[in-house]
Amino acid sequence: MQIIASVLGADYGNLADELRDLRDAGVDAVQWDVMDAHFVPNLTFGADVVAACRPVVDLPFEAHLMIEHPERWFEAYVEAGCQTVIPHAETTDDLPGLLRSIREAGAKAGVALNPETGLEALEGAVDLIDLLVVMTVNPGFGGQGYIAEMEPKITAARRLLDEAGNHAPIEVDGGIKAHNIARPAAAGAEHFISGSGILAHPDGKAAAVTELRAALA
Ligand code: DX5
Repeated sequence: MQIIASVLGADYGNLADELRDLRDAGVDAVQWDVMDAHFVPNLTFGADVVAACRPVVDLPFEAHLMIEHPERWFEAYVEAGCQTVIPHAETTDDLPGLLRSIREAGAKAGVALNPETGLEALEGAVDLIDLLVVMTVNPGFGGQGYIAEMEPKITAARRLLDEAGNHAPIEVDGGIKAHNIARPAAAGAEHFISGSGILAHPDGKAAAVTELRAALA
């Protein structure tokens, strides 16, 4: 099981310190929520920001591309130091080709599905997926409520991957807190993205991570 911090809600004026705090708090990786104000109504990190932060911690970085035309941008995030790149299935008409290209660029190929997008969007690409992200909020902003109705979709996605002999983990992203994390885990998720659940926790990042892990135990 992996606890992965989204830095969407981090203090951008002290990003290096925030990353070191997240490392010290014991997260397994960092997710950069890349937004282009087109696919989602928000605008965030260019690859240069990720590259500048790459030397700060040894943690794995993953780029969650909530952008149009991911085929134009994924290489920049690989070069910036992301080990995994996660485009949205909704943003390409050639998901298999895009996932192959990400792998050829030397990164793990993830794919994310918005809540309203069905698993049929993965047709022809199931064997090319290294990480399947089931969104449990509508993407664009942190601090939203977890959509529990996604749990059957998580279970069906696990079955789809298993039937294809693909043991890639399922990751959930959005609204994950200590009080609900056991639910997507029971449904089949193994990676858990938390932004506000860690960054805005009243007792600090380390307490938040400890609570999330305890809730998974
Ligand atoms: C999509 C983003 C957010 C973020 C997590 O909007 O992907 O889900 O990573 O934010 P929280 O954990 O605050 O929902």
